[in-house]
This record gives sequence, structure tokens and C-alpha cells, in this order.
Amino acid sequence: MTAKIEIIGPQKINGAVHISGAKNAALPLLAASLLSNDSLLLKNIPPLVDVRTMLSLLEELGVSFHIISDSVVSQTISLKTDSVNNFTAPYEIVKKMRASILILGPLLSKFGVCTVSLPGGCAIGVRPIDLHLKGMEALGAKIELKDGYVHATAPNGLRGAEIDFPIVTVTGTENILMAAVLASGTTVLKNAAREPEVVDLANCLNKMGADISGHGTDTIIVNGVANLHHAEHSVVPDRIEAGTYAIAAGITGGAVDLLGGNLRELLPSFIEKMEQTGLIFSDIDNGLRVQSSGNIYPIDISTEPYPGFPTDLQAQTMAMLCLADGISNICENIWENRFMHVAELLRMGADIEIHNAHAKVSGVKKLTGAQVMATDLRASFSLVLAALAANGKTVIDRVYHLDRGYSCVKEKLAGCGVVINRL
Ligand code: UD1
Repeated sequence: MTAKIEIIGPQKINGAVHISGAKNAALPLLAASLLSNDSLLLKNIPPLVDVRTMLSLLEELGVSFHIISDSVVSQTISLKTDSVNNFTAPYEIVKKMRASILILGPLLSKFGVCTVSLPGGCAIGVRPIDLHLKGMEALGAKIELKDGYVHATAPNGLRGAEIDFPIVTVTGTENILMAAVLASGTTVLKNAAREPEVVDLANCLNKMGADISGHGTDTIIVNGVANLHHAEHSVVPDRIEAGTYAIAAGITGGAVDLLGGNLRELLPSFIEKMEQTGLIFSDIDNGLRVQSSGNIYPIDISTEPYPGFPTDLQAQTMAMLCLADGISNICENIWENRFMHVAELLRMGADIEIHNAHAKVSGVKKLTGAQVMATDLRASFSLVLAALAANGKTVIDRVYHLDRGYSCVKEKLAGCGVVINRL
């Protein structure tokens, strides 16, 4: 039997949530430890299933790690990579967590060899890695695809090159960035991803002795260095978790203090759109207060690479717009199959029509509890949100997706007076 969550609605969120470190920053930062000759101390690591999966992959490669402090919202972990003796990410791990591909850049750069299983598709789309591989080849790597695995070697080391990404890829930018750090000469990444998690990675690599500039813009310049040394780094707050709890305030007609630093800076277009729907944001010590105005106005959103509206908040936003006073339009530009939550929201009484990458969401007066199924990480939380606003009982099946990317959901919601039950 798979894990389920039962929610009796409607409930109103009211309280404060401590925002954890970003999963999408923590995973590349953990992989970056492979580049160093010395230890890396990472703070504000979120206690998530995906983090545990990345740690077990690193452990298989020969990395030793030590959890220095552990709380419900964050961990401090020290990693040491002086006994790396295995260079393979097997299918069993990659199929669980696609971010495993992030070991390719560091291993190739530091050890000149890496074998990693091809990730394959997932619920939200095909998710190719061709741009990672082309980038590695441009840096001088030899790539062979055999038996479902990428076999990459760089017998003479990597050398700097200019890489112009035809589309913005977050993981691709991170992977090539890590490969370029120890390459000889200069690498220029054009049309690079500008996501705060990419900036966080570059900042940490610079603390480790890398020479990276331009991160946060679409052109990143990396001057290769011979080796990296010890550093300490605290993971940037999770803007997607913050945005998700902000939506909880909107959909339930409540209020929430999001604690975790300068969150406003991390969510420019999301906050702009949420203000249009009627949410009120105000700056507080160490975070943001989000309050419902009592109305949900319809809006049009289009997911884009940063600083555009994040695809990782599309499903949650859609759940709220199901209860808006009018028609909203959502265009999903990043993933071709990221409307899996729609069928579930329909079961709860929503009115949504899909045409290719567009969803027309006609607001309804109320949602009703139903049995629904989580299909991916962000979609899982969209169903939690809908269930909190709905009348009656909702049971969400397959919530293991949720635990991959949201820490302590039950506890964090309980701190705001909201009850969810794990079955
Ligand atoms: C993407 C999102 C990221 C989100 C994550 C999980 C963007 C730009 N990226 O990151 O915000 O957190 O999903 O939902 O918003 N692509 C290729 N070839 C490649 C790599 C990517 O064609 O080698 C395409 C993908 O099919 C996709 C787009 O590029 O359409 C963006 O992919 P990418 O940013 O690499 O995916 P993630 O890093 O997983």
C-alpha cells in the first residue's frame, strides 16, 4: 500500500512557516563536493528524500559524509571526497532521482571519467540531457552511449570553450559550470540559466577557489583553476516552498509568515502575479508576510526560465485559480506534460480545459473533497492546497512524491493550525 494523506476541508492557514534550503540548490551543491581536494561544509540542507538519495549516490562513489547537526528543517553536512574510487551512477539511483546526472560534470572534470545511466522520461516530460552531453563534448570529453548508459571520458582533461545553449537549461548550466571549473583555460556559457540556485552553486564554487563571474546573468565566464579547497556554504532558501505556502494563504483565505531571509528577491514574477490575484505581501524580519485579501482574482500566467514565472509553481497556482472569480489562462512552456494534476482537480469539481500547452481555468464557487492521485512532486502539493480549500474529505494517494521535495509538510502545516493526516 502506498502512502496517503487525508485532509478534511475547508481549513484556513494562519501562522509562520520556516522555509528550508532549496532542494534544487542542495543537490548540485552536494555534487560539487566531488570537485574539491578538501572537505565541503554545507549548511541549511533540507531534510528530504532526494537529498538522502544524492548522499547515498555520493557514498557509493566513495565520498564520506558526516551529519554535523540535524533539525526538522535543516541539516549541516560535511563531505570529504579524498577516497572517491567509483565513477558510475547506476540506473537504480538515476531512475529515482534525475539530478544524479549532476555528478557527470564534477567527475569528468576532476577524474576524467564518469558513467551515468541515461535518465529516461518522467511524468512531466521527456527530459533529455543532450545539451549536457554536447557541452561536455565542447569541453573535450569523449561521449559514448551504450546499453542505456553515458560513458564519458576526458583522458587529456577538459579545456575551456564557448558554449551557447539553444534553450535555457538549469541542470545543464550547472553540470557544464562544474565541468568548466577545473578545465584548462576559459569557458563562456551563453544563454545560461539565471536561476537563484545556479547563482548559489557559483557562489559556493567561488568560495571553494573557483574563478566564476557573470552568474545571475545569461553569460557566465569560468576561468579554470588547478584545484579547489575547503569552504563553508549555506544553501539559498527554497523559493518554490515559499511560493507554495504563499498560495496556501491565498487559497484558504488565511495568512502566513514565510521565514527564511530575502524571499522577495527570489520570487519577482511570482509575487507580481500573486498581487494581481489579490494576495498582499509585506516585508517582515527575516522574511515575508502573505495575507489573503478575501478575493481571488483571475490572472494569466506563462511559465518561463528565471526571472519568469516558475514552472515549479504552476500546479499550485492552478489549484488556487480554480476558485478565482473569473477565467484564468495558464501557459506551460517548460514541460510538455505538466498538466497531470488537471484530471485530479476536475475530480474535485474544478472547471479546466486543456489545449496543448494552454489551460483555461474557469473559477468555480467551491471545490469538493475526493479521492485523488499525486502524479509528481509539485502536483502533489497542488492537491493538498485544493483539499484544504475543498468541502469534505480528500484522500491523496501516492504522496511519496511530496516527500521528495517538501520537508515536514505535516509539521509545518500543523504550526499554522492546519491538520493533515498521513494514512
Ligand atoms: C526544469 C526547470 C526548473 C525546474 C525543474 C523541475 C526551467 C528553465 N527549468 O529544470 O525551473 O525546477 O525543471 O521542474 O524552468 N532540455 C533539452 N535538453 C537538455 C536539457 C534540457 O532539450 O539537455 C529542455 C527540457 O526538455 C526542457 C527545458 O530544456 O524543456 C528546460 O530543462 P532543464 O532546465 O534542463 O530542466 P531542469 O534542470 O530539470
